[in-house]
Amino acid sequence: MQNFVYCTPTKMVFGKGVVEKLAEELKPFGKKVLMTYGGGSIKKTGLYDRVKELLGDFKVFELSGIEPNPKYSTSVLEGVKICKEQGIDVILAVGGGSVLDCSKAISVGAKYDGEPWDLITGEVAAQAALPIVDIITMAATGSEYDAACVISRTETNDKVGYIDSHLYPAVSFIDPTYTFTLPKIQMLAGVADAMNHVLEQYFNANPNDLADGMMEACMRSLIKNVKIAVENPEDYDARAEIFINCSLACNNILSIGEAPSGWPMHGMEHALSAYYDITHGVGLAILTPRWMKHILSEKTEERLAKYGVNVLGIDKSLPARDIAEKAIEETYALYEGLGIPMHLKEVGIDESRLSEMAHHVAENEGLDQSWVYVPLTEEDILEIYKASL
Ligand code: NZQ
Ligand code: ZN
Repeated sequence: MQNFVYCTPTKMVFGKGVVEKLAEELKPFGKKVLMTYGGGSIKKTGLYDRVKELLGDFKVFELSGIEPNPKYSTSVLEGVKICKEQGIDVILAVGGGSVLDCSKAISVGAKYDGEPWDLITGEVAAQAALPIVDIITMAATGSEYDAACVISRTETNDKVGYIDSHLYPAVSFIDPTYTFTLPKIQMLAGVADAMNHVLEQYFNANPNDLADGMMEACMRSLIKNVKIAVENPEDYDARAEIFINCSLACNNILSIGEAPSGWPMHGMEHALSAYYDITHGVGLAILTPRWMKHILSEKTEERLAKYGVNVLGIDKSLPARDIAEKAIEETYALYEGLGIPMHLKEVGIDESRLSEMAHHVAENEGLDQSWVYVPLTEEDILEIYKASL
């Protein structure tokens, strides 16, 4: 078991109708609120109106139009400007992971005199942040319970994951009923994202029984409940289990004491969304079986077989290599069967920029370091992209 420090300071408020407690939870942070949201889903669902009613005693400023794969040069800088000019006390993010991630970047940028990009790239360490309260409307990233945000800078094709303990939300409201209105593909992308968060951690060099068991249970629960939610989008218990799995999947608790893995599939997916603005979870679903196939070897087959037996229910009496191969095929079939596009070409990505993206990933994501579960060179990355076409 590896040494670790574990601390999640976020207060999670979970369940039907919990948002009614919003004013009570927001009050300790101050009166001036920057409410951030995306392209309008919260207006269609009525959540915007309810939140505005609940905020009757607060002075509310708004930042709207935050896009999926949130952009630095527009949304982040605009939010920082509002916070500084208006002396905002607390940010209230209402929406999916993109709205929350953008708000996290704003929260540190608002307390920094220089260029906020320096913080996002880790060149300068954040010293302070505005508190964030969120009402998360999409089960996917786990941003509501983690210390990360992912910000895109279109001009340079960068999509950067930024991790800092200042980025934990102070309070996260999670009402699974909000996810009833998600378009099916967003629900599936969210589940594929959470599955991948677990897989990224599961494939590591120093597993332990507790963490493996938690991760396997999380993946089994996601697979079982996404099938129920596809059939009946308003099945509350299925939506609730999906949501809590997503919230825990990116928080490090599930892989406690295990070795770091390098998160190779995320490193490769960030370039896909940076260059082509595709949906993160879809990019991951496409890459996952191709990455598994690429790293299959004598060294990794036992681990893939363990995933195959304990998560996918493959017959454990088969030889490890056969189980591993079957596990890869079944992972692909699972996503395809749910309705996720499983080829890059289906999401508008052809061969023309694969080499450029592989080079960008090799330069920026550190996937060739010796401690990565299976280190990847630029050539490996290109092969995985090509196999995903
Ligand atoms: O913009 P609006 O109109 O709100 O619509 C959104 C958006 O179009 C819609 N949506 C969200 N909740 C809804 C809803 N539509 C109907 N009903 C609802 N209840 O869904 C679309 C996608 O939203 P988005 O926030 O982009 O999705 P997600 O939560 O998957 O966030 C994706 C972003 O998070 C990053 C990804 O890279 C991507 O940029 N990630 C963040 C992580 C983190 N902070 O730890 C880790 C992840 O690995 C990931 O990289
Ligand atoms: Zn992810």
